[in-house]
Amino acid sequence: MNNLALFASGSGSNVENIAKYFKKNNSTNISCVYINNPNAYVIERCINLGLPYKIFTREDFYDSDTVLSHLNELKPDLIVLAGFLWLIPSKIVKAFQGKIINIHPALLPKYGGKGMYGMKVHEAVVQNKDTETGITIHYVNEKYDEGSVIFQKSCAVTEADSAEEVAHKVHALEHEHFPKLIEDLLNK
Ligand code: GAR
Repeated sequence: MNNLALFASGSGSNVENIAKYFKKNNSTNISCVYINNPNAYVIERCINLGLPYKIFTREDFYDSDTVLSHLNELKPDLIVLAGFLWLIPSKIVKAFQGKIINIHPALLPKYGGKGMYGMKVHEAVVQNKDTETGITIHYVNEKYDEGSVIFQKSCAVTEADSAEEVAHKVHALEHEHFPKLIEDLLNK
């Protein structure tokens, strides 16, 4: 049985999509969704989907070993950042080297780095009149959005697209490709 840990900060549509994908697959279990925001909608999704979750604070993540110890006990085969906005502390990167992946809503290295997340990315794409954007799935290291790229997929952006429309296209790509890519990595 593969053991998957997810991290999320916001709405959690990717968490829900991944959970539904693996529900049909009895060789992969989502053993915990780690959530850093006590007001995030992802909590409601976890409750509705019956997913185990753990809400944690900055102190639990950076200043103590609360999250690290929890992960060490869980022994996940893969840690997936699915809309998670905090930098992963070095102690966790080191403990799970090559086992942490992130999804970013742009074609990295474009629109990456601290402060570049969610709608901010899509607003920048529209403002710069880019004709394409997309998704990047990459390994996580100690810097925001800089680990090696595993997968990218692009989509067209038209002059008529608003940032919300770009977000919609990017979410569709994420929902289509992220669970399959996770499955491929687990079966490697
Ligand atoms: C996703 O588009 C994901 O790529 C992005 O946050 C969104 C979360 O949506 N992640 C980042 O921007 C990380 N830098 P969701 O909560 O509906 O899954």
